[in-house]
Amino acid sequence: MQALHVTQFQQGAGAGTLVLLHGFPVDSRMWEKMAQTIDSSWRVLGIDLPGLGRSASVLPDEPSMVKAASLVRESLDALEATGGPVVFAGLSMGGYVLQAALGLYPDYIDGAIFLDTRANADAPDVIANRAKIADESLASGTPAAVLGMASGTLSVRNAEQRPELVDFMKAIISTQSGAGIAWSQRAMAGRPDAFEMLRTLDLPTLIIVGADDHVSPPEVMKELASAVAGARYVEIQDAGHMSPVEQPFTVSQEINAFLESLTAVI
Ligand code: MLT
Repeated sequence: MQALHVTQFQQGAGAGTLVLLHGFPVDSRMWEKMAQTIDSSWRVLGIDLPGLGRSASVLPDEPSMVKAASLVRESLDALEATGGPVVFAGLSMGGYVLQAALGLYPDYIDGAIFLDTRANADAPDVIANRAKIADESLASGTPAAVLGMASGTLSVRNAEQRPELVDFMKAIISTQSGAGIAWSQRAMAGRPDAFEMLRTLDLPTLIIVGADDHVSPPEVMKELASAVAGARYVEIQDAGHMSPVEQPFTVSQEINAFLESLTAVI
């Protein structure tokens, strides 16, 4: 199986590696702005998850978050090691991949950042909707079924008042393939509840949520935070589900503070 596409946003100077796992239905381009203000001593990598972005042709037979997480690990293993701690940051679907990665290779990960995601498995109506979107996307071969997420994932206010953000999201979503959309939906539909795994986690953890996220709202992220001993919980003002797109600088400052605290501990 071909490796996933990895974008190196910055090379760093050996402090550690920050691995960014994007949400659905976008790709690692969603991190472009935020990555620019991450502490320059850290290497910053953005991985395009299976079927999306420049990993469009990577479509394993079986769609699952575990498969995505194992491909992430293979792709990182193929890179030259630069030393220091490895921190994974996953937004929404990327957060589900991070949960699978923590189950598969916990010793590899020195810090976890969950952004705008959730730890519960899908309810039957959500699973049915994912199956419908997957079928439609395969039939059309296009991302038409999820184009509405360009504005739907932003806060209501940002969707109305910041058209450049809607355009940015649209530009990324419109390049995705129907097959990649379908694979991701099926993989997300099959993921298990992660609360039990999170309760046993002994790892520095940061939880970030847009205060106006209506897809995985603060109350859902507070549940996730309360499952992880010692996790720091932060709400980002004037941001929805795409907090690093809507408030890239505020989010990077929170991540930088977390990275600094981690370097002090390790
Ligand atoms: C995402 O932003 O990755 C999606 O909202 C995740 C999901 O559909 O559960």
